[in-house]
Amino acid sequence: MSTQGQKVKQLIELREKAKLGGGQKRIDSQHKKGKLTARERINLLLDEGSFEEFDMFVTHRCTDFGLEKESYLSDGVVTGYGTIDGRLVYVFSQDFTVFGGSLSETFAAKICKVMDAAMKVGAPVIGINDSGGARIQEGVKSLGGYADIFERNILASGVIPQISAIFGPCAGGAVYSPALTDFILMSKSTSNMFVTGPKVVKTVTGETVTSDELGGAVVHSTKSGVAHFVSETEEEGIMLLRKLLSYLPQNNLEEAPLVPCNDPIDRLEDALNEIIPDNPNKPYDVKEVIGGIVDEGEYLEVQRDFAPNIVTCFARFNGQSVGIIANQPKYLAGVLDINASRKAARFVRFCDAFNIPLVTLVDVPGFLPGTGQEYNGIIIHGAKLLFAYGEATVPKVTVILRKAYGGAYDVMSSKHLRGDINYAWPQAEIAVMGPKGAIEVLYSKELGELTDDAAKAEFMNAKEQEYKDKFANPYVAAKYGYIDDVIEPRNTRFRVIRALQALATKKDTNPPKKHSNIPL
Ligand code: HXC
Repeated sequence: MSTQGQKVKQLIELREKAKLGGGQKRIDSQHKKGKLTARERINLLLDEGSFEEFDMFVTHRCTDFGLEKESYLSDGVVTGYGTIDGRLVYVFSQDFTVFGGSLSETFAAKICKVMDAAMKVGAPVIGINDSGGARIQEGVKSLGGYADIFERNILASGVIPQISAIFGPCAGGAVYSPALTDFILMSKSTSNMFVTGPKVVKTVTGETVTSDELGGAVVHSTKSGVAHFVSETEEEGIMLLRKLLSYLPQNNLEEAPLVPCNDPIDRLEDALNEIIPDNPNKPYDVKEVIGGIVDEGEYLEVQRDFAPNIVTCFARFNGQSVGIIANQPKYLAGVLDINASRKAARFVRFCDAFNIPLVTLVDVPGFLPGTGQEYNGIIIHGAKLLFAYGEATVPKVTVILRKAYGGAYDVMSSKHLRGDINYAWPQAEIAVMGPKGAIEVLYSKELGELTDDAAKAEFMNAKEQEYKDKFANPYVAAKYGYIDDVIEPRNTRFRVIRALQALATKKDTNPPKKHSNIPL
């Protein structure tokens, strides 16, 4: 064999060695746990044959604790770029078979390299996390490496989409890189995230808790709201990531891709003319409204199981990506509480940062009263949503389906917060509060003087009817121009599409500033 032939053979052998990561035994153990390897995950995520790997020959530089005798090509993280549906993305995938995917100085440098490259060209970064955290043998160099990544996450925020998949342990300060990204997906049964693990919890607080109870996918998708998406398996999770990207632009200077639309834009959805129950206190499922008006009835929910009293999802109208925010009367009557406000505010800000128009469907009885909410700061958290809507400069189309009461009327993308096109259905009730509460306040003296229960009820009914006739309709707001038109429910799809078309060239700005001071 020629010298060149030998060199090529050596390269191929080195590549094969790198692909084995921490060795076949550890790969088998990874598979036994129901987990894929770092490279298998990348291969599933990216278009076939599109992956170009960086830094395969990188090894760690640590000489403490015997590490000078143990090193692996790639050093525990696979990095590079490829395409998803033909669009460029940068990726890193932590390799648990190498020192438990723990982060070394060189490991961090590899991640920073792909993040820097993604920022230069304006492409999303997807990080797959499966790691024992800071590589203990490297000490502060590892901690520094984390912070180098954090800083890049922060600077890239609002410039390129950043998405994290958690497919294994993610503990200690390591959770903060995913937390700084736009979306977190966790796979059930194989992933967990916590700042301090069960052992430390037991020592410090005496609580006995399992890893799953403390920071599993179910906990983070229902209780904490840390995870935006949950999948049963890694394969399903990876497909979800591909779908999510299809709704997003490459960066903050681009628009999301237009998708060919076969769903007629003037499709009438007759069922919507009958969806609102006669009794205003009866619920209906706002997802039926969403499904009825978007292209092909298809949408992707974000934080589906967290604060279900508000729905946030990506969908398309005539092929154009939008972010939909909808109060959900089916849960807690669609009330705005702390979690709903946080959830929707973050979603609104993401969409605004990435030029994705907002479509808001309103049916909200107000903010949730009570000490539980007040003590935990509903004032500040509710203000987040108000701030997010008021600051957003993307096209904002609003449809009031039924109730828009009190401060929640203002908050939910009202005209007064630079809502561009605001519609209402004929059943809309736009008022300071619901009829019963209003009458109790307005006529407390008269009600106090009535001792007979029947007379009291008769008085209440008469006054409530008077209030409903006067305020519980969309025409007062329409009279003032706060509503641009009252529309037939079954024609909502067409009216929203026309509104979005009219707003396609919208330009709006905020005053120059270093940054705003959103009530965090
Ligand atoms: C070096 C590590 C490691 C680490 C795991 N390994 N974590 N090596 N540094 N942090 C190695 C193990 O020695 C083992 O090597 C292999 O990875 C697999 O680990 P196992 O323990 O056998 O696997 P498993 O039973 O699945 O348990 C996984 C684990 C556990 C839950 C992640 O390994 C663990 O608790 N690791 C320590 C986690 C931790 O406390 N990290 C520091 C967090 S603080 P061999 O050779 O046997 O295959 C932190 C600060 C970040 O990260 C700060 C940022 C600001």
